[in-house]
Amino acid sequence: MITLLKGKGERNRMAGIHASFTSVVGLLCTRIRQNATLSANQRGCEAQLFLYFAAAIHSLLALCSKIFISIRELSGMTFLVEIFTDGYIPCRNALILFACSAFTLPALTQQPIKTLLVGVDRRSVTSLNGDWHYLVDQPPAKGLYTAEGKVRDNGYALNSHPNINNGPHNEEYDFATSPTLKVPGDWNTQDPTLFRFEGVVWYQRDFDFQPKPNTRTFLHIGAANYKSFVWVNQKRICDHEGGFTPFDCEVTAALKPGSNFIVIAVDSTREVDGIPSVGIDWFNYGGLTRDVSLVTLPTQFIDDYDVHLKRENTFSTANANTLAGYVHVEGASAGTPVSLRIPEAGVNATLTTDAAGRASFDLKASKLDLWSPETPKLYKVELASGQDKLTDDIGFRDIRVDGTRILLNGNAIFLRGANMHAEAPYRTGRAHTDEDVKNIFGFLKDLNANFVRLAHYPHDERMERAADRDGIMVWSEIPLWQHISFEKPEVYAKATYMLNEMIRRDRNKASVILWSVSNETPNNPIRTQFLTSLANEARKLDPTRPITSALIGPHAKGNEMVQDDPLANALDVVGQNEYIGWYEMRPEDADNIKWTLPQKPILISEFGAEAKQGIHGGKDERWAEEQQVNVYEHQFVMINKIPQVRGLVPWVLMDFRSPTRNIPKLQDGFNRKGLFSEDGKKKQAFYLFQKVYKERSVGKAE
Ligand code: GCU
Repeated sequence: MITLLKGKGERNRMAGIHASFTSVVGLLCTRIRQNATLSANQRGCEAQLFLYFAAAIHSLLALCSKIFISIRELSGMTFLVEIFTDGYIPCRNALILFACSAFTLPALTQQPIKTLLVGVDRRSVTSLNGDWHYLVDQPPAKGLYTAEGKVRDNGYALNSHPNINNGPHNEEYDFATSPTLKVPGDWNTQDPTLFRFEGVVWYQRDFDFQPKPNTRTFLHIGAANYKSFVWVNQKRICDHEGGFTPFDCEVTAALKPGSNFIVIAVDSTREVDGIPSVGIDWFNYGGLTRDVSLVTLPTQFIDDYDVHLKRENTFSTANANTLAGYVHVEGASAGTPVSLRIPEAGVNATLTTDAAGRASFDLKASKLDLWSPETPKLYKVELASGQDKLTDDIGFRDIRVDGTRILLNGNAIFLRGANMHAEAPYRTGRAHTDEDVKNIFGFLKDLNANFVRLAHYPHDERMERAADRDGIMVWSEIPLWQHISFEKPEVYAKATYMLNEMIRRDRNKASVILWSVSNETPNNPIRTQFLTSLANEARKLDPTRPITSALIGPHAKGNEMVQDDPLANALDVVGQNEYIGWYEMRPEDADNIKWTLPQKPILISEFGAEAKQGIHGGKDERWAEEQQVNVYEHQFVMINKIPQVRGLVPWVLMDFRSPTRNIPKLQDGFNRKGLFSEDGKKKQAFYLFQKVYKERSVGKAE
């Protein structure tokens, strides 16, 4: 006989007998909960453990007649499972039993999940953008953390109100009467007192909600820098680490009809074991920096899909009309129908899910107009399953490496690009509006560019949508910048899920042609092992795109530059950062430099010099625009001698804020290597690149 114990009394009556097993269960659950990218796997894992659990319960019943199970939710989807029996349980079985129960519980109840909803910007949502009350929780942030650094559920998360006029003195905060910040947006450029603040800021807003039957609701956060902790109606919902990728947390169980409230603590503190780590050359804007919304979905819903041109061993335009991929339906059992329609391409297919809710496909389309910068063709792709449907705009193209060439739809290409930080032209602050994106793409068009490296982290999804529409190819990167704690497995786990989130959000963006796993990391065996594994992980996640990274060094030996970094072996395309004429040597020394580089496609992924817009002078006058042009002109002499260079990516399209750039009157907190100033003024170097890109006078596609 199995009895589900309800309430404290019954539990206490049994408490003394088997308490010792609990801690193991708690720990294991937390591990599972932390691994954000496990939703599909979790389902697989749960199904498997469910079988174990059933088997163990069965063997237990053989040992004793009465089994009592108590279930308690601790916080953030961690469950405590206690099993009481009236008989003696041999130790090994007990451990298996408890381990199983910890994982299978979610299979028994509708486990709120944390996931990343693909194509969420193509769904109708309830926007929570707008004015949110805020509170600054200065270090040690006692509103959020206990003295041991644990997250408190009973601090500001409760959104309690102080007894102002009567009653005992209690809370010393009150969101309701606190000032507001705009969401999305960083706090640094909204509240002058927070301009340089790195720490914890609390956000709170009320919202009305009417639950609909047979639906599940998710809180979608486009990005929050750096760590974020979410409560709805005082219930801890989820946490997230990483400032540049979206996450979706289920709030179904926490919502109630009528007025609800949400409290989010965002901690932008830089951490040694963070990604990025502490020393960055960009402004650490904090806050809810991208769209926040509520997404209500049927109980079974499409949370992930991949629709791409099938990758054959060799590419031929003639047979470039096979589409492949999958659609994943969360909550679906095997045999669930999924409709995939692409009217313009004559596709009208019904797929079927497997036991993991995944419906894979490989199907012929009528003739496809392939996506390219010249013809950025996007198709309406209509997906539906059960009550759920969404339509995405997807382009189809083939991108691959062949020797030292990069081939797009079988044609050798040369990337004429620029690096760009996610900083808003004219107003600075994190870029997140359609206006910001329009301005940035306006700069790229002006430059005659066909490529942009979104440095050094995934930008707002609007950027990739614009790149898809405007025919600009994209390098997308996780913020693994220079030094991180390569020796720590938990940091590798962080890097892996950031990679997962980046690829999952943008895998259907035709414009994204390269995934980058890092920038300028120190050449040592631990780092190389770490990044080689990460590059292979990226290939597993997406075998249709080349993998790259930006290397730094070597230092010149005479006029020889030999790039022998072993990480290049793990890459399909090698990014080479070099600052000859600025950080090392004189501009004219570049003319005589002889490079030895891997026989792979090489992108000069960063090069350049600083110039303060408006300062003019001789070509050797530091900070003058003419000097910046001089550095680039010598670079072109050098680059034209490197046969395997397949792209130019000057550092950087626009001057950007950086905490390490503080020369008064010249830098004033900005990295001044832009071709544009932060307020959109073109420097002479802009016109140089505009001409070179128009005439295609530097570099060759093959
Ligand atoms: C590095 C780095 C950039 C930095 C640039 C610079 O190469 O990758 O993030 O801003 O150099 O020093 O200006």
